[in-house]
Amino acid sequence: MEPILFLNLQRENGRYASEFKGAVSRVIDSGWYILGEEKEKFEKEFAAYCGTTHCIGVGNGLDAIRLILMGYMVQGVMQEGDEIIVPANSFIATALAVSQCGLKPVFVDCDIHTYNIDPTLILKKVSSKTKAIIAVHLYGQVAIMDELRVIARQYDLKLIEDAAQAHGAIYEGKKAGSLADAAAFSFYPVKNLGALGDAGAITTNDDNLSEIVRALSNYGSDDKYIHKYKGLNSRLDEIQAAILSVRLRYLDQDNRRRIEIARYYSENIKNPQIILPVVDNAESHVFHQYVIRSSRRDRLRRYLLDKGIHTQIHYPLSIHKQEAYSKLKNIVIPIAECLQEEVLSLPLYPSLKSEEIHRIVEALNQFS
Ligand SMILES: Cc1ncc(COP(=O)(O)O)c(C=O)c1O
Repeated sequence: MEPILFLNLQRENGRYASEFKGAVSRVIDSGWYILGEEKEKFEKEFAAYCGTTHCIGVGNGLDAIRLILMGYMVQGVMQEGDEIIVPANSFIATALAVSQCGLKPVFVDCDIHTYNIDPTLILKKVSSKTKAIIAVHLYGQVAIMDELRVIARQYDLKLIEDAAQAHGAIYEGKKAGSLADAAAFSFYPVKNLGALGDAGAITTNDDNLSEIVRALSNYGSDDKYIHKYKGLNSRLDEIQAAILSVRLRYLDQDNRRRIEIARYYSENIKNPQIILPVVDNAESHVFHQYVIRSSRRDRLRRYLLDKGIHTQIHYPLSIHKQEAYSKLKNIVIPIAECLQEEVLSLPLYPSLKSEEIHRIVEALNQFS
């Protein structure tokens, strides 16, 4: 039987191949590859899509978070040694960006149902050095933003979205990317809005931050060879921008298909050994991942693989247990640590075929 890949990017991108080729040819023919019209065009389109006044295309999602923090450091909102609240349950990039700016990530455990940062646990971690909260919309589900906003306002903290997994998710009528002071996106190829290489963006309504971040992403310069800040070289290139403009046109359609597949899984997977994801609100989860839990996760994963069904684990080791953060190895963050043993991501992408979806459900229901 044909294996079901966890993600089939060849099939996913094959749907847009002729438009991609047209876009790439246009860039080749233009003779202009960095900081040109394609980047400007995509930035306008993505800002309009998210509902923000600014979008700055950058090199990748990690840099997008770093640049927001660097921007706030330039503004004097935070300085080296200050603390930033981050979820313990995320991809390492969220914390790395903080550490790489000389700031201190303070890890907060997640809510057992949504897997997103638990706002009720944040207050215990707020100190006089806390300057911001980074909310990750994990697996595509928007974090509990209304509660995070109240805390941010109460303690005068910046609220930053790590929206790397939630392009197009809608919360209280507004898109991810427009729900806080600034937001970071990744367009890594596997994302709901994926490029054909590394790419990222920042969205914000803050004019001053936008201006600073734009300069920071281009060697700290907004005037050629004149450098205001010690910036990075992190720019969305013309080819990726042209590809993203194509992909953006299909994002809502693709997200609808993801939500439809997720609904099918949720309505049809019936196995007492499997815990299904909890969705607060249908629009606020765009299912970058469909993550189930099982106390027999590793056996279940092997069983599915024997049936040709590939899965993934997001994430097998919490950030505070990684060697990169070995100084934190003795802290205990119970729910994040429990999840690392139990979570399993199923194949879910717009080009997944109906027969593949049915095969996955059938296999899960037969697992004993
Ligand atoms: C939650 C989260 N934040 C940040 C990133 C970093 O993005 P990139 O890989 O584009 O640097 C990723 C993506 O991999 C992510 O999933």
